[in-house]
Amino acid sequence: MRIVSGIKPTGRPHLGNYLGAMREHIALQNEGHECLYFVADYHALTTVRNAAELKEYRRGVCLDYLALGLDPNKVTFFFQSDVPQHAELAWILNCVAPHGLLERAHAWKDAVAKGNREMNVGLFTYPVLMAADILIYNANQVPVGQDQKQHVEIARDIAEKFNHLFGETFVLPEPRIEKAVATIVGTDGQKMSKSYGNTISIFDDEAVIKKQIMGIKTASIDLKDPMPLENDLILSLYEQFSSSQELEALKANYQAGGFGYGKAKQALLEKVLSFFAEARARRKTLETSTKLDQIMEMGAQKARTLAESTMQLVYQKTGLN
Ligand code: ADP
Ligand code: TRP
Repeated sequence: MRIVSGIKPTGRPHLGNYLGAMREHIALQNEGHECLYFVADYHALTTVRNAAELKEYRRGVCLDYLALGLDPNKVTFFFQSDVPQHAELAWILNCVAPHGLLERAHAWKDAVAKGNREMNVGLFTYPVLMAADILIYNANQVPVGQDQKQHVEIARDIAEKFNHLFGETFVLPEPRIEKAVATIVGTDGQKMSKSYGNTISIFDDEAVIKKQIMGIKTASIDLKDPMPLENDLILSLYEQFSSSQELEALKANYQAGGFGYGKAKQALLEKVLSFFAEARARRKTLETSTKLDQIMEMGAQKARTLAESTMQLVYQKTGLN
């Protein structure tokens, strides 16, 4: 089975990104599937307008994934823009994708509804480039968060349309959604997201992470009283990073009374820091390593070979040969 996914380089990762996407991406490399992951820098261009910023984000995502355990010898890991065939195929798919299909995309409709952003054509055809990313490698499954499910379905619709018009060419991909992890909640109680400023970071300085965790909104109860276990963000995050005994111990402290949210937050902070200690150290080492370019070029070469072979078939089918 071939698995393909893209990661948009738009900022530093938080616990929501890790639990909702990155952890699953990395775990899949050990399940005997062929995985291709790329840094979706062409997609980032729909919103990032500053070269230095894009460069930093692109590099940042590579460091994050490698530090968290992505093994470039197991996964084909590369920059989307190092395989320009993605953009070439996107044009060809633009010529078969129905306009109405793209008009129904939730992400596009939300952008229109908000109306406060520069509406470039790239935002509209975003799902077509994404379809090219997926179809060019004949992916069977595409691991994404719930928010990207519709885009994978659009890729499938475009593949069907192309196959119908030009004959069997593309594998029909399926979204792969990790059901076990629901949406991770941020420090203010909404979905954790960079755009809401309610995140808990993975790779920022300890002082930053401490401030974020200490800022988690909690119920106001008297210190001597037991703390409720239901809908408690500290407990639900703590659970993600600890054994069941550790979780039970923390819950017992909640129920005993006289414990307080300050101590609970301190326990979570220590858990998060120890869980990511190795990754944080590895990222520091990688930051100064000169091997990054080599690693990304190795992935790009493998990806280009696969992409070229699909393009040969596409040229034949469409008459561009
Ligand atoms: P953000 O909302 O912070 O900008 P992105 O949209 O860049 O995050 O999401 C990158 C990946 O992380 C996606 O696969 C998305 O589904 C996942 N993700 C983001 N926020 C959360 C969250 N709060 N809970 C679970 N998964 C999340
Ligand atoms: N659109 C995805 C996101 O915002 C990133 C992405 C680009 C992607 N191309 C892809 C994901 C292809 C899966 C497959 O998160």
